Amino acid sequence: MTDRLIIFDTTLRDGEQSPGASMTRDEKVRIAKALERMGVDVIEAGFPIASPGDFEAVQAVAQAVGESTVCGLSRALEKDIDHAGEALAPARRRRIHTFIATSPIHMAQKLRMSPEQVLEQAVKAVKHARRYTDDVEFSPEDAGRSEPDFLCRVLEAVIDAGAATVNIPDTVGYNLPHQFGELIRNLIERVPNADKAVFSVHCHNDLGLAVANSLSAVLNGARQVECTINGLGERAGNAALEEVVMSVKVRRDMFPCSVDHIDTTQIVPTSRLVSSITGFPVQPNKAIVGANAFAHESGIHQDGVLKSRETYEIMRAEDVGWSANRIVLGKHSGRNAFRTRLKELGIEFDSEEALNEAFARFKELADKKHEIYDEDLQALVSEVDMEQINERFRLVALHVCSRTGETPHAEVTLWADGAERTAEADGAGPVDAVFRAIDTIVRSHADLKLYSVNAITSGTDAQGEVTVRLERGGRLVQGQGADTDIVIASAKAYVNALNKLAHPPERAHPQLGDV
Ligand code: KIV
Ligand code: ZN
Repeated sequence: MTDRLIIFDTTLRDGEQSPGASMTRDEKVRIAKALERMGVDVIEAGFPIASPGDFEAVQAVAQAVGESTVCGLSRALEKDIDHAGEALAPARRRRIHTFIATSPIHMAQKLRMSPEQVLEQAVKAVKHARRYTDDVEFSPEDAGRSEPDFLCRVLEAVIDAGAATVNIPDTVGYNLPHQFGELIRNLIERVPNADKAVFSVHCHNDLGLAVANSLSAVLNGARQVECTINGLGERAGNAALEEVVMSVKVRRDMFPCSVDHIDTTQIVPTSRLVSSITGFPVQPNKAIVGANAFAHESGIHQDGVLKSRETYEIMRAEDVGWSANRIVLGKHSGRNAFRTRLKELGIEFDSEEALNEAFARFKELADKKHEIYDEDLQALVSEVDMEQINERFRLVALHVCSRTGETPHAEVTLWADGAERTAEADGAGPVDAVFRAIDTIVRSHADLKLYSVNAITSGTDAQGEVTVRLERGGRLVQGQGADTDIVIASAKAYVNALNKLAHPPERAHPQLGDV
């Protein structure tokens, strides 16, 4: 009998640590529902002590999810653990994940603690977390650069204290696959009570090795992999869930465990959902979920695939959810059909008013674009969500003039701080003119770091989804907007980013705070 490989998704926690990728409570719930539909075992929903918003988001995910275990992160501190325990209280299955750094550099420079103090605090934290749940996970942060002897002592002690899962993070993505696999094998062999806990891994992608390192760990005894959709995460990201799952599934001949419980047809829809909510586009050549992952360009390949698809394909596009875009709704669909489809996508509104607002938007969109896909619905709901928190600036009207041989000109009316204000500007192109006009009103003093447009679906009537990244005083924010008119989508995305900039975050970063 082969073991089940536990899939622990941390898109909502480590993924959210990607600069600019913060998500609202409702967005987290939508992603969590999608992960649950996929059959993910554990969903790490956030870091409850980071801010009241993070606490509420973890609580909302705990309420919304029934099948998957919901997990909250905490440093090895009682106050963090108490927050996590409280936020997770509504969950049917809950896990507290507590961590403290064990590498010489982190202990000496960041924590300013001796190894003995770290060990003692780790044990205390696990015992404290056990007051809230039997399902406690412990991570020695920066395990990939920790002394193996010390790691063994810490792991033995936390397993004795009641940790059911011990997670070995390669926090800075420094390890190589053979080395990381060996580390896992050694730990499992040397820790006397290793059989009392599941060994897990959490690999970062700084050298592009997160998936390779995770798989090497699985081949050497790890039975949980921590990963994120699209490989989102701190710096270069985490191991991509879709790559880990499909590697184990496609190469089942090589792995002593299986991922049969994962509904892989949910991979592409979930990838798109995460990309549209965070504004992090998926590169076209990205394995599994990139637009070109199953596209055969060369004539020889096309010929081969037509004769027998196995000539060039090791997995079927439809097995990971690449079905032809399904028209789900249209101009004549009623409120009930709209509500039902949204429910199937895991989207429910708090009030009839919010549903009515979204339905009115849907009708407007269906007038412009006759075939409405799931992706359009997701974008539309994101916009309604964003407006609920974005009260400071709102786009009221936009007029753009762009002609060959003439300088583009824009006139923009914004609702700004309680009043309507209009401004005009010229620009190098229509989008530049619109941004300049908006800035005349807002005077943000922010730098535009990224501007990107993606078509949400295919066809020239598709909605364009624009992402705008702004930076001010070292703080990065990301705004999104969608519309069939990409200049309007750009204005919405810019206004969305400005609204985020206007609300200073009050969030602690889990891995930077002092213990
Ligand atoms: O990368 C890391 O070490 C982490 C821990 C909190 C598990 O994210
Ligand atoms: Zn991490």
